[in-house]
Amino acid sequence: MSAMPAEAESVTAFPIPANVYAETVVSVEHYTDRLFKFRITRPQSFRFRSGEFVMIGLPNAEKPVFRAYSIASPSWDEELEFFSIKVENGPLTEHLQKIKPGDTILLKKKATGTLVLDALLPGKRLYMFSTGTGVAPFASLVRDPETYEKFDEIILTHTCRTVDELTYSKNLVDDLKNDPLIGELVEGKLFYYPTTTREESPTMGRITNLMRDGTVSRDLNVPQLNPETDRAMICGSMNMLKDVKEVCEEFGLDEGANNRPSTFVVERAFVD
Ligand code: A2P
Repeated sequence: MSAMPAEAESVTAFPIPANVYAETVVSVEHYTDRLFKFRITRPQSFRFRSGEFVMIGLPNAEKPVFRAYSIASPSWDEELEFFSIKVENGPLTEHLQKIKPGDTILLKKKATGTLVLDALLPGKRLYMFSTGTGVAPFASLVRDPETYEKFDEIILTHTCRTVDELTYSKNLVDDLKNDPLIGELVEGKLFYYPTTTREESPTMGRITNLMRDGTVSRDLNVPQLNPETDRAMICGSMNMLKDVKEVCEEFGLDEGANNRPSTFVVERAFVD
């Protein structure tokens, strides 16, 4: 037998398991010393619903460390986008934050998650509550035309410590409004509500307080959260999920799941 041709050799030093794709980094953008975005090639056979997450890793060990990452790009996109935190000594992110275009990323073949349109009952208004990298699944959903078919109004809230940390969501919404394909669909339907907690900005405070004291409804000129008309999705840290969930329940919403659609759904923003 002759040796394998060069192009058939694995791109990694270790064999790639059958349930994993090896993809290529297309671009990387750093926002702050804590946050960055990267885009990778998408395997043709990889399917997911906007809002789902997937396990990703690096080919830097025989048993790579995998972490759950929400896919930030919509299901129609040719590439896959991720928005990540950088954790010092984080088993994955300490290496992931150094990736460059051309590098290899491992991606498990199965996507899953509860922040999907199918897990919600029909409604008029969809709230997407996020903090930090928890905005990622919503970056997918706000770029999916199906979201606008199912809801008349979409309210995307993003709370971060500082103004810089809002750059990803600000650029996302600006680009979307100027997009030749989906821009018109979004017009008058997508409301972006950025807030900060540790630096001065036009709207300050945790979203829990701003919902409870009526600030959000006053600022956006919408009625208070109401289970008759409103649906909600929540993504952030464990404490944020617990607290925003409590707010939703105080207003009469009820938690749903893929197999039992209801008026709100919750998912952790996964970090090391
Ligand atoms: P705060 O600055 O008051 O902690 P982090 O970067 O720690 O994940 O936080 C992201 C944003 O989420 C911060 O603005 C933070 O506010 C806010 N936050 C943290 N915990 C909660 C919570 N339990 N409920 C609502 N917002 C929260």
